[in-house]
Amino acid sequence: MSEKKIKKTVVSGIRPTGNLHLGNYFGAVRSFLKMQHDFNCYFFIADIHSLTTHPTPANLQAGVRQVLAEYLACGIDPEAATIFIQSDVPEVTELYTYLNMNAYLGELERTTSFKEKARTQPDNVNAGLLTYPVLMAADIIIHKANYVPVGKDQEQHLEMARTFANRFNRMYHHKLFPAPKPFTFDGKDMIKVPGLDGSGKMGKSSGNGIYLYEDPADIRKKVMRAVTDAGPTEMNQVKPEPVENLFTLMKIVSAPETVEYFENQYNSCQIRYGDMKKQLAEDIIAVTTPIRERILELVNDSEYLGKVARMGAEKARESAVRTLTEVRELIGLRKLY
Ligand code: TRP
Repeated sequence: MSEKKIKKTVVSGIRPTGNLHLGNYFGAVRSFLKMQHDFNCYFFIADIHSLTTHPTPANLQAGVRQVLAEYLACGIDPEAATIFIQSDVPEVTELYTYLNMNAYLGELERTTSFKEKARTQPDNVNAGLLTYPVLMAADIIIHKANYVPVGKDQEQHLEMARTFANRFNRMYHHKLFPAPKPFTFDGKDMIKVPGLDGSGKMGKSSGNGIYLYEDPADIRKKVMRAVTDAGPTEMNQVKPEPVENLFTLMKIVSAPETVEYFENQYNSCQIRYGDMKKQLAEDIIAVTTPIRERILELVNDSEYLGKVARMGAEKARESAVRTLTEVRELIGLRKLY
């Protein structure tokens, strides 16, 4: 048996909105880097999904290029993983059509992300939003994925993908699709990277992020502005959330000795947040600089990006066409000629 056969399959989609920040990098991307050699990985840019928000053609195109360049810059290896653009594999929209016939209005309307969108953007509650989980399920099961590395916010969608997969299997009396399971490294949750605004995690939309493409001067400015407090007044005092967050960031990017030094400073009430932030900024810059340089190189290399996209599309379509052939056969969509 070839090595490829025994590897489990992993699928993950990335929306082409916003740039990658440290949260994405230490959360998702680094686990992608580890997975790409041990699993049969499909990583794709979910450009069709992003149409629910009606981007302009120019913005959509720029977003796709940027995300592709950023993932490659982080070290996703197009020879190891299949990295592709969703719309290059039209088979997925065909499977989505079939799955839609057995996706019920009630369950789609009850989806948390749909309810949230319907509430926050009442003048754009389109059918694509309603059936977003169906398209996502098609993305996953078209490659017969075993694992999907997603964050907490996607767990319900993944559960729906399992429901749709099982429903199809049951309906056509054939175990075609494995149940896609959430993937966590070493059984642990993904690292959560806090934002710089005192509370919560780093997010694309919350404006509290540090981006991989950012230049060092901007990173220094952002880190120096991070929320802290007036400083500890008692030895070994419990850290308030904004300060705890800075330490968490430091644990992620800095050397253990550096963290220990500032922990001691804090515990003995001698900490100078300015010094800590300066160090933190430099350690962040050390992580982002090589990635940033590669992003700048890659984003203008249309030839290379095109080559990667074509290679990914070919590999992904091969797998998608194979599954769709089985799906059509099971459904009874057989050619009369
Ligand atoms: N919904 C995912 C997100 O917003 C993106 C996505 C689309 C996805 N299709 C997928 C993720 C399939 C995993 C698998 O992040």
